[in-house]
Amino acid sequence: MTENTASTPGKLAIIVLAAGQGTRMKSRRPKVLHEIGGRSLVGHVLTTAHALGADHIEVVVRHERDQVVAALAEQHPDAVIVDQDEIPGTGRAVQVALDRLPDDFDGDVLVLSGDVPLLQADTLRTLLEGHRAASAAATVLSAYLDDPTGYGRVIRGADGVVERIVEQKDATDDERAVTEINAGVYVFRATALRTFITRIGQDNAQGEMYLTDVIGLLRAASEPVAAEPASDVASTFGVNDRAQLAEAGRVLNQRIVRNWQREGVTIVDPATTWIDDDAKLAADVTILPNTQILRATVIGPGATIGPDTTLVDCEVGEDAVVRRSDATLAVIGANATVGPFSFLRPGTVLGEGGKIGAYVETKNAQIGEGSKVPHLSYVGDATIGRGVNLGASTITANYDDVNKHRTEIGDEVHTGSHTVLVAPVRLGAGAKTGAGAVVRKDVPAGALAMSVAPQRNIEGWVEKNRAGTGAADAAARERSAE
Ligand code: UD1
Ligand code: CA
Repeated sequence: MTENTASTPGKLAIIVLAAGQGTRMKSRRPKVLHEIGGRSLVGHVLTTAHALGADHIEVVVRHERDQVVAALAEQHPDAVIVDQDEIPGTGRAVQVALDRLPDDFDGDVLVLSGDVPLLQADTLRTLLEGHRAASAAATVLSAYLDDPTGYGRVIRGADGVVERIVEQKDATDDERAVTEINAGVYVFRATALRTFITRIGQDNAQGEMYLTDVIGLLRAASEPVAAEPASDVASTFGVNDRAQLAEAGRVLNQRIVRNWQREGVTIVDPATTWIDDDAKLAADVTILPNTQILRATVIGPGATIGPDTTLVDCEVGEDAVVRRSDATLAVIGANATVGPFSFLRPGTVLGEGGKIGAYVETKNAQIGEGSKVPHLSYVGDATIGRGVNLGASTITANYDDVNKHRTEIGDEVHTGSHTVLVAPVRLGAGAKTGAGAVVRKDVPAGALAMSVAPQRNIEGWVEKNRAGTGAADAAARERSAE
C-alpha cells in the first residue's frame, strides 16, 4: 500500500464522462444529449450528481463539445466544463478532469458515465459509504446481468477479491462468460487515482486509455479494491445504441409511473403512459391509456387526462377533463373540458369551467370563465370574455397575409355557426352574429351582426339546368307529390 491511506473525510469531487463519440447511436446528436423522460442522458447524471452534493462537479467533453456545453449551460450552469484532448478513452477523460481539481484535493473522486442515466443518489451514497468504510483505494459499482454483452467484466480472483476489469473486446471466452459487469461508475481515493492514472497505456483492442485499467494497477500494487454489486440492476444500464436508449426510457418511465401511483394517481395502463421526469401530478388524477404527460406539465387534483392525449408544458386545473387531444404550453382551468380531438397551441388559456371541443384549434387565446368553443373552430390571437359561446365553425381570421391581428370578444357574446371574425375586430359584450356572418367591423355591445345577403330561391333551377341528373329527377318527384 502507498502512504496515502486516508482521505479528507467527506470531501467529494464528481467527474462526469461525456466526451465520447457515441458511434453506436449513429446520430448527428451527441449520445449524451439524447433524451429519456424529457431530459438528456447527461442531464439525468448531473441531476443525480447534484442531489448527492459535491465540492466539485466536472463534466468532460469533446465530441460535439459546443452542443453539449450549451445544453449543460442551461440546466447545470455550475458544472465545470473540462475539455478532453485527442487522446481517446475514459482513462484520458479522467486524467484531464483530475488535472482541473485543486492540487491539494485529497477527498474521494466519484466517476460517473454520461451514458448511464438511471442511477439514483441512494445507490451512489451506499457505494460511497462502503468505499469509505473499507478505506478502499477504488470501489467499482457492478451488477450481475443475464446478458453482460458489451460491458466490461469484473474479474475476481479465487478468493473473490477484485483483480481487474476486462473490456468485452479484450476478453477471453472465459472472461466473457463472467456475468458481473462494470457499471462505469467508480469511487477512487483521489491520491491513489492521481498516482495510478498516469500509468495506464493504450495497448488494447480499441487503442484507448481505459479508466478500467486503473483497477488492475491498484490491485497489482496491493491497494484495496472492491466491487459493490448494485441491488437495482436496471439502474446500471448503459446506453450505447438506440435499443438501449428505448430500454432505459422504459425503465425510467416505469419508475416515474410507480412513483405517481404511490402518490395517489390512477394510471390505467402504465405501458402506454409516458410521464416526463419534470411533470407533476396531484392526487386523484386519472391517466387513461396512450397518454404522454411531458416536460414541466402540472396536473391538478381530480383531473382526467386521456385516452390518446399529449400534454407538453401544460397546466391543468382541478377536475378538468382532457381527452384525445394535443396541447403545448396551454393552461386549462379547473373543471374545464377539452377534446376530443382538440389542438391547443402555445398561449391558450382556458378559463374555469370552459370548453374547447371537437376539432378545435386554439393559439395565443384567452378564453374566459365558462366560455365555450365547442365545435370545429380556429381561435387564434383572441381574448374572449366570460360566458361566451362560439357557434360551430366560428373562425378568427387573424392573419391578413402580412400581419397577425387580435380578436376581442366581450362577455356573453354568442356567435352563429360559421362566423368569420376578420381581425382586428371587437365584439362588445352580449353581441350576437348571424350564421355565416363575416364580421369585418366592430360590433357594439348588444348588437346583432348580419353580413349575409338575404336568401333568394330561383324556382325550378335544377330541373332546367341539370336535366337528367338524379337531383333533377328527385326534385321532380318531390314537386309532383306536393
Ligand atoms: C465503459 C467501460 C466498461 C463499462 C461500461 C459501462 C471503459 C474502458 N469501459 O464502456 O467497462 O462496462 O462503460 O457502461 O471505461 N467517454 C469520454 N471520453 C472518451 C471515451 C468515453 O468521456 O474518450 C465517456 C463517454 O461519453 C461515455 C463514457 O465515457 O459517457 C463511457 O464511454 P463508452 O465509450 O460508452 O464506454 P463503454 O464501451 O460503454
Ligand atoms: Ca457506454
